[in-house]
Amino acid sequence: MTIAVLPEMPAAGELSVWPASTRPLPHGDLAVGGVSLTEIAERFATPVYVLDEGEVRGRCRTYRDAFPDADVLYAAKAFLSRAMVRWVQEEGLGLDVCSAGELELAVTTGFPPERIVLHRNAKSPHDPEAALRLGVGRIVIDSPSEIARIAAAVGPGGRQKVMVRVVPGVLAGGHDKIRTGREDQKFGLSLTDGGAQHAVTRILGQPRLELTGLHCHIGSQISEVKPYLVALRRMIGLMARIRDTHGLVLPELDMGGGHGIAYQPGEPALDLTALARRMRTELVDGCAAAGLPVPRLAVEPGRAVVGPAGVALYRVLTVKHTGENVFVAVDGDMIDNPRPALYGVRYAPRLVGRHSAAGPRTATVVGRHCEAGDILASDVQLPGDIHPGDLLAVPVAGAYQLSMASGYNLVGRPAVVAVHEDTARLLVRREALEDHRRRDIGA
Ligand code: LLP
Repeated sequence: MTIAVLPEMPAAGELSVWPASTRPLPHGDLAVGGVSLTEIAERFATPVYVLDEGEVRGRCRTYRDAFPDADVLYAAKAFLSRAMVRWVQEEGLGLDVCSAGELELAVTTGFPPERIVLHRNAKSPHDPEAALRLGVGRIVIDSPSEIARIAAAVGPGGRQKVMVRVVPGVLAGGHDKIRTGREDQKFGLSLTDGGAQHAVTRILGQPRLELTGLHCHIGSQISEVKPYLVALRRMIGLMARIRDTHGLVLPELDMGGGHGIAYQPGEPALDLTALARRMRTELVDGCAAAGLPVPRLAVEPGRAVVGPAGVALYRVLTVKHTGENVFVAVDGDMIDNPRPALYGVRYAPRLVGRHSAAGPRTATVVGRHCEAGDILASDVQLPGDIHPGDLLAVPVAGAYQLSMASGYNLVGRPAVVAVHEDTARLLVRREALEDHRRRDIGA
C-alpha cells in the first residue's frame, strides 16, 4: 500500500512522543510504520494496539549503541508476545523475565535460555523448576528462604548461576508504587542491615549455586541519571566488602531498568547516552578506587524499549456533557490500561481520521466499567465537536498496558497489530467470550 504523505506537518512537537515513523495523512489521519491508523481501526476493529516494529528494533539498537560493553536485557513484563521475543533476540538483547509463563513463552519461541535472567520477589516452586528445566542463564535471589530451595532443585552434578538482589537505599521512580530502591518495600535484600551480605554467605555455602554478581532495580519511570550513580557506587562498595570478607571477586553487576520516557510532549525522559556514559565512568572510577576489576554491566530496560512504539486506538461511543464536564467514553478502559487509575499517569489522546474546525475543549476520556475511576485520560484538549464514531489514538501505549490488562467485566483484551514497512499484521488476536467460556469449566 502506498500512502500520499502530506507536505505540512502538525505543529512542532505535537508528535514528539509518537513513533518516529508517524506521518500526517489527508483528512486528519496518521500513518505509523507506513500504515493508516484509520485503516487499521477498520480492518482490525477497536480497541486495538498498534506496535511499530521499526520503533522497537530502533530502540533496541539505540541501547546496544549506548551500552556497547554491557548486556542489555529487555524486561519482558513491559510487554511480551512471540514477535516481541524474536525482535529482541534479532537485535542482540537478552531478556529479563519474572515468571515461568514469560520464561516458557520466550524459550518456546526460540530465545536462547542462557541469555535470560529470572526475577521474582516470591518464587513459586514452579518458577525455579521451569528455570532449571529450561536452562535459564541466571536466577536472581530475592529472599534468604529461596536459597536452599533453589539449590535443592538443582540436579546432581548441576550448578545454577545466581545473583543477589540488593536494595541500595535510593529514592527514585515516577510514582510511589514503582519505587523499589528503598528499604520500605518488598523487593531485595538490604545493604544496610546486613541482609544482602548474609544471603551472599548462604549462597556461597551451597555448592550447587554459583554467585555471579549483584543486582538492583531502584524503580521505574526515572528521568534522572543521578540515582543510578548513587546506587552504582553503593553496589561497588558491597562488591568490595564481599571481596574483603570472602575473597570473592564478582564478575557481574546488573543495574536493572527504570529508564523514564515522556508520555506527553514536553515531559522529561531519561537521556540514555548520558546514562550510559556516566555509569561507565562511575563504574570504572569506582572499581579502580576499590581495587576491583570492572564487572560486566547489565541493564534491564522495559518501558523505554516498547512504550513509545505502541499506539492504542479507541472508538468514541458516547459524549456526555455534565455541568462543566465533557465525558468522552470510548471502547477501551481500565482493563487494557490500568495505569491512569493506578499511578495517575497522564496521556495525550488525539482525534484521528477527520479534521475538525471546532476549537479545543477540555474533556475526560473514560472507559465502560462501573467505576468512577475508569478514566483513560483526564483534562485533555479534544475538538469541541468530538462525537460518537470518532477515532481516538493514544501514543506511548506500548508498555505496561496490555501486559497489565485484566479480565474485568468479561470485556476481553484488545488485539495487537504490528506495523512495519507499509504493512500491518495481527500479532495477538482479540480475546473473545469463547476464551472465557473455555476456562470456565462449568462445574
Ligand atoms: N528489572 C526489574 C527487576 C523490574 O522489576 C523492572 C520493572 C524492570 C527491570 C523494567 O523497568 P522499566 O525499564 O520498564 O521501568 N507497571 C508499572 C511499572 C512497573 C515496573 C516493574 N518492574 C507502570 O506501568 O509504570
